Parts: sequence; structure tokens; C-alpha cells
Amino acid sequence: VKIILAPMEGVVDPVVRQLFTAIGGIDYCVTEFLRVTSTLYPNKVFYKNCPELHHGSRTATGTPVFLQILGSDLVTMGENAHKAAELGAYGIDINFGCPAKTVNRHDGGASLLKDPERVFQVTSSVRRAVPAHIPVTTKVRLGFADKSLCGEIAQAAEAGGAHWLTVHARTKMEAYRPPAHWEYIQLMKEKVQLPLIANGEIWTPHDHKLCQQSSGCEDTMIGRGLMAQPDLARQIRFKERPKAFFHYKDFFLDFIQQSHDWRGPFYALNRCKQLCKLMGRSYHEAQDLFQRIKILEKYGDLEPCLLHFFAQLQHSPNRTIDLPPPLPI
Ligand SMILES: Cc1cc2nc3c(=O)[nH]c(=O)nc-3n(C[C@H](O)[C@H](O)[C@H](O)COP(=O)(O)O)c2cc1C
Repeated sequence: VKIILAPMEGVVDPVVRQLFTAIGGIDYCVTEFLRVTSTLYPNKVFYKNCPELHHGSRTATGTPVFLQILGSDLVTMGENAHKAAELGAYGIDINFGCPAKTVNRHDGGASLLKDPERVFQVTSSVRRAVPAHIPVTTKVRLGFADKSLCGEIAQAAEAGGAHWLTVHARTKMEAYRPPAHWEYIQLMKEKVQLPLIANGEIWTPHDHKLCQQSSGCEDTMIGRGLMAQPDLARQIRFKERPKAFFHYKDFFLDFIQQSHDWRGPFYALNRCKQLCKLMGRSYHEAQDLFQRIKILEKYGDLEPCLLHFFAQLQHSPNRTIDLPPPLPI
């Protein structure tokens, strides 16, 4: 059973990949998308998107990282994928799911799902540009406006030579509105031989099981659920109980330090607020912490605030984990 940390632009940066894979239970990561237009990017762009390229395309704990690209130009998608492979990318993932308007106006991401032939073309041109031993994977939604082409989309990815296909079980139009329609992944699976990875709305080990059952897929990709509970993959894989929030003190301290080292004080401050918000979906304590740190303007105030908060928590560690129904972020 594989569990993949989902790519999330503006959220799953190298620091998150590093700290979350260190917690354990995650088999692969995927970078935030690199938008390919009409040029071949210089090396530094690839290193910025995926600094793990300096370390064999793996996080410090050895988890492989796929570099994700998004675009529709067959030539430049191939060229950029080729360069990523030369720089040592473990694998190349192609994003056919991004709903962002700027992305779709430029014709990439989910807009290609309207025409499965184009999914085939992009996949096969990337596949041809990359040495055979480097996996080229694809990530799609169930369709653009409706789900009628989902089977053909899967066939297109397979015919293009994809190593596996991750399916976010919603259309572009459904954006992030619950529910995820896992049962459609099963329909796609019946049309192809290539491995499918089920994705969308897995918040708990119970959701994971339901998703596996209705999609027919063993393997899953998890995004927001892992951000809400960084040990979710361990809960699923090792049947561990969820960690209480006060156990995340060192995690937060490492998170702000590494975020600071990666992009500076403002970045670290904002990412810490974001992490609290994301963890607030599963932990009351994270919501309380967010209330305290949201007003901070200086990075220097962050660590004392965290230390004070966690010191108080240690005195009242008995608040239980609460899992509210998922809301779109
Ligand atoms: C803030 C945010 C950014 C995302 N960025 C990307 C991205 O860069 N590439 C991609 O393929 N999917 C991206 N996604 C989609 C996720 O990978 C995933 O398919 C989606 O969140 C559903 O999974 P989840 O319910 O486990 O979060 C993003 C989602 C969110 C919420």
C-alpha cells in the first residue's frame, strides 16, 4: 500500500516535504507544479521548485520526490522534463488537474481534460523526452465540466505511457466541494491496466478505508488530511492513535526555523499561520494557537508565542482530538 503526500502549491514546500516525511508513513512526495510555457527553464528554477535535486531527489529521510510540471506545449513540456531528469529528478509528474483560472487561460492543467487526445499527446511527449528508467506519472480530475470522459482520460494516460495515474475524484467544476466521487475511479480502473492512485477527501483512517473500498485502489494520495494531522499516514499504516496536539511542539519549532532558512522571516510567519489553520481542521488547540499568532507581525515574536502556548498546553493535555466534518479550505 502506497501513501503519497499530495502536491499543494503554496502549501507543500520543501520544508513541509522534509518534516512530514520525517514523521513517517509517506512513500512519495510530489513538488508544487512548475508551469511550463514557451521556454526551457534554467537549472535554478528546477532547484528552487525541488531543492531535493541536490540530494538525489529525496527528502532527508530518503523519501523520493517527483517533480511536477504543468503545461500543454508538447515541445517545451518535453524539454523541461528532460532537463529535470538530467538534474536527477526521481520522476516527473504531469498535472492535468489544476483548476486555477490563470493556468487554464494559458491552456494547461484541467482544461486539457476536455480533450483526452491532448492528455495522450502531452503524456507521450514527456515520456519520450525522459530516459526510460525514470517514471512519468500523471494526475487528473474526473473531467472538466462533467465525468463523461473519465474512462477515456485514463486510457489516454495509459496510452501515453504513464507509470501510474492519480485521480482527484472530482471534476474541475466541482473544485474542492465535498464529496469526492471515489466510485468513478473504480470505473476508470476497469478501462486500464496501469495503476491508479485514489485522491480526495481522506481525513481519517476510516475515510482511507472507504476510499480504498469504493475506488478499488490500494494506493492513495493525501493532501489536506495530512496537513490537518501530520501523522495521518502513520495512523493508517501502523494503526497508531492520533498524536495529541502538545506533541507537536518541536515540530512547530522546526517548521518555523526551516521555513525561515528557506525563504526568510515573513515567509516563516505566514507559513506558520497557514499550518495552524490547516491543523485547525482536526485540532481545537491549533485553532486556539491560530488566534494567538494571527496578530503577530514579527518573526521574532513567533517562537516565544509558540513556547508560551505549548507550555500552557502541557498543563492541560487532556483535550481530545476532534474531527469536524471536512470544509473546503
Ligand atoms: C492549496 C492547494 C494547492 C494545490 N496545488 C496543487 C498542485 O500544485 N499540483 C497538483 O497536482 N494538485 C494540487 N492541488 C490538489 C491536491 O494535490 C489534491 O488533489 C486535492 O487537494 C484533493 O486531495 P485532498 O482532499 O487530500 O486534499 C492543490 C490543492 C490545494 C488545496
